[in-house]
Amino acid sequence: MLRTVIAPLLIACLAYLPAAHSEEQSDDQTAVHPDAQQSVEQSASASDLATWRLPPVTYPSSNPYNRAKEELGRKLFFDPRISENPARTCAACHHPGLGWADSMQRALGNQQGLGRHTPSLINAGYSKAFFWDGRATTLEDAVSQDLLSPGMAKDETPDSIVKRIASIAAYRQEFTTAFSSSGISFERITDALATFLRGIRSSSTPFDHWLLGDSAAIPESAKRGFALFTGKADCIACHTPPNFTDSSFHNTGINTVDPGHYEISGKDKDRNAFKTPGLSDAALTPPYMHNGSKATLAEVIDYYDRGGDTLDGGNELHPLHLNDREKADLLAFLLSLSGEAPETLIPALPLALTP
Ligand code: HEC
Ligand code: HEC
Repeated sequence: MLRTVIAPLLIACLAYLPAAHSEEQSDDQTAVHPDAQQSVEQSASASDLATWRLPPVTYPSSNPYNRAKEELGRKLFFDPRISENPARTCAACHHPGLGWADSMQRALGNQQGLGRHTPSLINAGYSKAFFWDGRATTLEDAVSQDLLSPGMAKDETPDSIVKRIASIAAYRQEFTTAFSSSGISFERITDALATFLRGIRSSSTPFDHWLLGDSAAIPESAKRGFALFTGKADCIACHTPPNFTDSSFHNTGINTVDPGHYEISGKDKDRNAFKTPGLSDAALTPPYMHNGSKATLAEVIDYYDRGGDTLDGGNELHPLHLNDREKADLLAFLLSLSGEAPETLIPALPLALTP
């Protein structure tokens, strides 16, 4: 679609490969409380459990963190003036009250192209692949593509966005503070938004408390569900620690005409293959899958149990033959991955006063 417009940006962004802050490369090996260990009868040892603890998010050296930049990104995220169509703020589709998604099967306003389900932005800062088809490899790249997508406003260009934002005097001051020099560019807008997004993390969930040693934090059924997840049901084959995703692409037998990652890689094995989504806070973000085809987590479990919807065409799944209790256990585990929807500060936006 707009790939021709964004190709130069893509190339620029690919050079960004995240170089982690050394102080943030913590190998957080906090010991797991012995109770937590005991209550999981199966193979999970203390070190297995520790692998599920999310480390602090890292910021690339090409776009380092500072507080002013994060707060500027927060404003841009909620500001209707980011788009020529004021109904299309980032938050219109990635709403904090809806798990940073929109609760709809497919994104509204995205009538062009394939029309996919809006993914949650929770823990996006940990991803290595973005969009359902993986057409972006850095968060900055993903943000710049979404800024120009037809879901925002038709015929938007980097210049038109910069011009609108730069016409607001208070923003000019905020960019100067955030970037330590004056000037508003498309790249700076993208960098500020990406910095804000890296701060959107899952809140502390019952599962997190269990990992930290509170054996009563999740019910026994959820512990059995974790054993299934990492054992018989083999969800862990793709939903790997610590963020429940391998940042890779799989054909899981969803009934779809969407080519998925094949469009990017051109490889046959990637036909109808989509990015494995993380599962933190999944209970907050129905419906599920790239096409929003599964309304509830229980439906997702039934779908995995039957080995997907289409059994041919490269589907990597196989039927699991779970009984009702095992399905309930798996569901209890998935629910333990969700915390309360976090309170999100919606900022006051700079007024466009003309002197
Ligand atoms: C019209 C609804 C809509 C709006 C507005 C919107 N997005 Fe999105 N966003 C989507 C959809 C749909 C996808 C997935 C598209 C795909 O996979 O092809 C997505 C994907 C993303 C992703 C990739 C997430 C991941 O884990 O793969 C990021 C990051 C993102 N959006 C950020 C933003 C930002 C920042 C803005 C504001 C500039 C924004 N979005 C505005 C609908 C929207
Ligand atoms: C072969 C890799 C693979 C395996 C095994 C796997 N998943 Fe997935 N999972 C994926 C992919 C890929 C998607 C996205 C598919 C799509 O959108 O079409 C997904 C989507 C999901 C979603 C929807 C998340 C969302 O935000 O839309 C949930 C929930 C989920 N999986 C849970 C599980 C559970 C539970 C198991 C084990 C029973 C499991 N997965 C096994 C790869 C896998």
